[in-house]
Amino acid sequence: MSGSSPPSGVRRGEIVAALSMATDLAMGQPVEFALKSCLLGMRLGEALRFSGEELSEIYFQALLRYIGCNAETYSIVALFGDELSLRRDFALVDMAKASEMAAMVLRHLRSASAEAGALDAIFAIAKGFLVAQKASADNIAAHCEVADRLAERLALGPGVRRNLGQIYERWDGRGLPNRLKGEAIAPAVRVVVFAQDVVVLGAAHGAARCAELLGARRGRIYDPRIVDRFLGEQDRFLAGLDEASSWDAVLALEPARREPLSEEAFDEACLAMADFADLKSPHTVGHSRRVSQLAADAARRCGLSASDAADVRRAGLLHDIGRVGVSGRIWLKPGPLTDSEREQVRLHTYYGERALSRSPALARLGSIVAQHHERLDGSGYHRGARLLSPQARILAAADAYCGKIESRPHRAALSAEGAADALRREARAGRLDGDAVAAVLAAAGHRGAARRTLIGGLTEREIDVLRAVARGLSMKEIGRQLGISPKTVDNHLQNLYGKIGVKTRGGATLFAIEHGLTDLDP
Ligand SMILES: [Fe+2]
Repeated sequence: MSGSSPPSGVRRGEIVAALSMATDLAMGQPVEFALKSCLLGMRLGEALRFSGEELSEIYFQALLRYIGCNAETYSIVALFGDELSLRRDFALVDMAKASEMAAMVLRHLRSASAEAGALDAIFAIAKGFLVAQKASADNIAAHCEVADRLAERLALGPGVRRNLGQIYERWDGRGLPNRLKGEAIAPAVRVVVFAQDVVVLGAAHGAARCAELLGARRGRIYDPRIVDRFLGEQDRFLAGLDEASSWDAVLALEPARREPLSEEAFDEACLAMADFADLKSPHTVGHSRRVSQLAADAARRCGLSASDAADVRRAGLLHDIGRVGVSGRIWLKPGPLTDSEREQVRLHTYYGERALSRSPALARLGSIVAQHHERLDGSGYHRGARLLSPQARILAAADAYCGKIESRPHRAALSAEGAADALRREARAGRLDGDAVAAVLAAAGHRGAARRTLIGGLTEREIDVLRAVARGLSMKEIGRQLGISPKTVDNHLQNLYGKIGVKTRGGATLFAIEHGLTDLDP
């Protein structure tokens, strides 16, 4: 995954591990589920004397096993309602045991039709049973295909990509999608499937029952050699797994090529993460790419530095990664949300921030992501913050604009003009930043959108002062020109020094040159 562009400071392991935190949420699993199973899988692989190549496959597959999970979420939601709780239960059952599967399917079909009348519910459940089997086979095939394509875009090797197509295969040949049997399943797949079940079953049932279930599934779901190796030395394999955070331990195990990704490869990875998030709902397909493009254009119009504008562009791609942790039942609900559903929606910015929080380079983007639904009057979420960075103001405006020109289950898309009017109203009400809205509207091609500036969080008056300083005017001259007292000029000057991080007129002048302020019309 190298390129000719300069290094980005982000390692591939950090991207993959951050994605694994998002897929944990999307599968209804606890935080660090994938990280823990990665550590356990690596321990098992080493104990079984796997080759370096196979260990590398275990590593990436354990972290990315569920990267295709958002594919066709709407079809699961239509049938079962809450796909997160379905996936959580699905991870616990033996798919080939008809009685276990039927009980689980029935439970979820029942809860999906809980609000229907008795007759409608019976009809829905009967119909659900008929289509559930085909739907789950189709869904698994889609899951595998999407995983393979995303893995290709993350420049993971052919082994990992092949393996991601085998994640629902079983030792006894009764798995999906290809009913591969025994040794025909890649060794890394056999280890990862087993390691993930150890983590899931252990958390759900405790160590003793977990060991019983693993034994019962020996030769059915799992390779007997792996089960025997694990059960022989369970304590050693599980040592410390639940104690500390697994993030650092997993990053320390990252296979070869630990150098930072090139800027170009980092962009590719962000695009893959954007598409992964947007697959969650047909209404959001392509949303993150649109937001990113618009926000990046607006950031340039606002005069943000190249590196701040790049952060806005990438944060635009990653801004909705936390959506995967909120049920599709809510995102796809055609009617108004209940209070508790709204609370869950509000969590998506928090989830996004947390998934990106462990890696320092990603955390910088995570802090912008966290603010994309905040509003300047404190009415936004998830913190109700009022003090927003210039990057966050631009992202919030771009996201609001794109959201309005896209349809949502409860409303049709607004026209471009309708969206622009709505954004202007938000700016007038003091919720969105007026300069950011103007820049976004200009970037979206709205005529009449004034060319405004939002540089380093400066007000328009501070920018007037900065431009005058850059022209070498004295305090008195600036005051005269702007019709304000020299004392007020000085106040503006001190404020802007603080905002742009300079101490002198020379420093301020250089900043003005760097940001093209000398070219602006007086
Ligand atoms: Fe969002």
